[in-house]
Amino acid sequence: MQHTEGSNPVSDNAYIYVCSSSELEEDDLFECEIGTETVVVGRGEGNVYAVQGICSHAYAELADGELDGTCLTCPLHFACFDIRDGSVLEGPADTPLQVYKAIEADGSIWVSRERG
Ligand code: FES
Repeated sequence: MQHTEGSNPVSDNAYIYVCSSSELEEDDLFECEIGTETVVVGRGEGNVYAVQGICSHAYAELADGELDGTCLTCPLHFACFDIRDGSVLEGPADTPLQVYKAIEADGSIWVSRERG
C-alpha cells in the first residue's frame, strides 16, 4: 500500500493517523484525541492496540500508567486492564475499557474513529 505519512489508508475515512511507528516502541503508550474522546495507543508484544484513555474507575489518564506486555496499569489506583480487549485483569476497576481498532501500515499507526 502506498501512501504518504498523514494520509488515510482507509478510503472511507474510518481511521485517523496517530503517530509514526517509530514513536511507539514496545511497552510505550501514546495519548491522542478522537473527536471528543481521549484514546491511548500502546504497543504490547509487538502489536498495536487502542483503548479509551481515561480509566473506567475514576479520573486518571492511562497514558500516564504503564504497559507491560499487554497489561495496562492505571497510574492512580493501579487497576490492570488487558489492552487487547479492555477487560479488567485486576481491580479496583470493575468496568472494562472501550476498545478501538488500531492498525499499523507503512510505518504509520492509525486508530478507528468508532469504538469496537
Ligand atoms: S482511577 Fe484507575 S484504578 Fe482508580
